[in-house]
Amino acid sequence: MKHILVTGGAGFIGSHVVRLFVNKYPNYKILNLDKLTYAGNLANLKDIEKNSNYEFVKGDICDAKLVQKLFSKHTFDAVIHLAAESHVDRSISNPMEFVVTNIIGTVTLLNAAKHHWQNIIAGEGNNGRSNLFYHVSTDEVYGSLGETGFFTEQTKYDPHSPYSASKAGSDHFVRAYHDTFQLPVVISNCSNNYGSYHFPEKLIPLAINNIKNNKPVPVYGKGENIRDWLFVEDHAKAIDVIFHKGKTGDTYNIGGINEWKNIDLIRLLCKIMDKKLGRLDGESAKLITFVKDRAGHDLRYAIDSSKLQKELGWKPSLQFEEGLAKTVDWYLANEEWLKNVTSGDYQKYYEGQYAKR
Ligand code: NAD
Ligand code: DAU
Repeated sequence: MKHILVTGGAGFIGSHVVRLFVNKYPNYKILNLDKLTYAGNLANLKDIEKNSNYEFVKGDICDAKLVQKLFSKHTFDAVIHLAAESHVDRSISNPMEFVVTNIIGTVTLLNAAKHHWQNIIAGEGNNGRSNLFYHVSTDEVYGSLGETGFFTEQTKYDPHSPYSASKAGSDHFVRAYHDTFQLPVVISNCSNNYGSYHFPEKLIPLAINNIKNNKPVPVYGKGENIRDWLFVEDHAKAIDVIFHKGKTGDTYNIGGINEWKNIDLIRLLCKIMDKKLGRLDGESAKLITFVKDRAGHDLRYAIDSSKLQKELGWKPSLQFEEGLAKTVDWYLANEEWLKNVTSGDYQKYYEGQYAKR
């Protein structure tokens, strides 16, 4: 029996983590705290919302009173912290929101965990490892690679965007609470995820949505930037393994062993879409439009996840082509979801951003 606070569980990765834990561990109680920003959506959790081991609370992780109240009421054993502002482009136009949620929100949660677990931390409780603050982070904290090499857990932090700087800041605070207050923590740094419920401002779902609607597919710069793509359900499985078997105080890198140049990825996606939509081969690729590059655009990310593979036995399960085809099928079968999340304010926002490029 464990009572776990999951933050950001209505977002893309969070919803997959909540679904996995609710279904796989019926004796755990999962409380999902989410502010439901533009990126949070309760429709992402429709299939499990009525499960008796699941509860949702709408709220802000920066609201110290609310967070303390939840800790007092529920005596959580653990936190899996995913809530964040997550989109690099938005961090360039509005860095402060990223500082507030990603840094102040994280420290607010750390304070509550420290306060409520202090007897256990001081050795007066039953056992230290029954509490855990799991911080879900990103490979972007390591900066950018050249044409060779990989990010390991020893790579020095070198963030370039306001998003990655805010995630680096939150990682540092998590480690500082471990080193200073002996808070039991673990951190994972993961590469780019793809799959269902991904908000369509991010490259893959944005391209699927635009191709479907015969709209330009914006490729930043020359499309030469490289990302290491991982199926989101494999990330959720890695979080499960690290949560249960990871060493307190340690960091684990998670990656797809799957590097793609943006332009090659978009061309592959266009081919898949041609087939799925019954278009002539090459039809969707005509929508590819090279636009102004992202400021401070990191060239290449690639993760060395051998520590996680060797020590905890995790590895990605899905081939990229298979995962991508599955993802396209999901978006084509879930038009209503896509329409709902892209309607209203978002459409205006997207068109404004696109016009600036
Ligand atoms: P997302 O933007 O899809 O979801 C973020 C969720 O957090 C949303 O449900 C949102 O409503 C919620 N949220 C935002 N601000 C909040 C606040 N102040 N209080 C409470 N809830 C709030 O993000 P995602 O892509 O699912 O990423 C989840 C986590 O994983 C983030 O910490 C991100 O940095 C990290 N990560 C993401 C990726 C990726 O490829 N998407 C890769 C590695 C790490
Ligand atoms: O590496 C992990 C990170 O991956 C996570 O921490 C972030 O939360 C997540 O958003 C993602 O960041 P990226 O910036 O890599 O993802 P995005 O989908 O925004 O962009 C992927 C690549 O595609 C990047 O090189 C920029 C490029 N791009 C993006 C968009 C939205 C385009 O060429 N055109 C686009 O329209």
